[in-house]
Amino acid sequence: MQKGLFITFEGADGCGKTTQLNLLKDYLTAKGYAVILTREPGGKGLGEKIREILLNYDGKVADRCESFLFLADRAQNIETIVKPAIESGKIVLCDRHTDSSVAYQGYGRGLDIEQIKMLNNLATGGKQPDLTLVFDVDIETSMQRVGNEKDRMESSSKEFFNRVRNGYLEMAKQEPERLKIVDSTKSIDEVHKRVIEIILPYLK
Ligand code: TYD
Repeated sequence: MQKGLFITFEGADGCGKTTQLNLLKDYLTAKGYAVILTREPGGKGLGEKIREILLNYDGKVADRCESFLFLADRAQNIETIVKPAIESGKIVLCDRHTDSSVAYQGYGRGLDIEQIKMLNNLATGGKQPDLTLVFDVDIETSMQRVGNEKDRMESSSKEFFNRVRNGYLEMAKQEPERLKIVDSTKSIDEVHKRVIEIILPYLK
């Protein structure tokens, strides 16, 4: 039985979502809500080890292998971090989740989107976020924000990130109730205000 709230943060690399996640945590904590942060890949423990492989392995990683590693991490994150927190009434803010697999491995790498959705469902046991914020910014700006020190995923081409970005926009069209686009070209403060406007109706 659900008690808490599950909010996921999505967008292409360099979209500013992690900054916004931390600002929202501070805002909600100051209002007296119990909040926990987690992330995919790599919540903690086993997840951190999977993250290390995904971001730093320097050999060839097959697209399907990459997908399964993200999914394995997701299954662990949901079961050991997200579910217990929601059941105890907390607000869970998760940096990336199922939509990243659809955007990156589906739209980005070109794997079958319906299959990825099915595998996501298997990994999460059907648990869906109550709300997903998609931080949208043009690729030039996001690449600038990423800078020169890139991990394995960030070293993908500009075309790849364009497909990822367009994938998110398409997904938001398909599920407008759950996925809300946030214009992330604005200042940190303006984006934070917009995030609060969006989440207010979800707070008890
Ligand atoms: P991270 O350093 O957490 O990047 P960011 O700060 O942009 O979230 O690295 C996560 C990387 O993994 C990022 O490039 C997106 C990618 N990713 C996928 O390709 N598929 C997934 O399912 C997830 C969760 C992440």
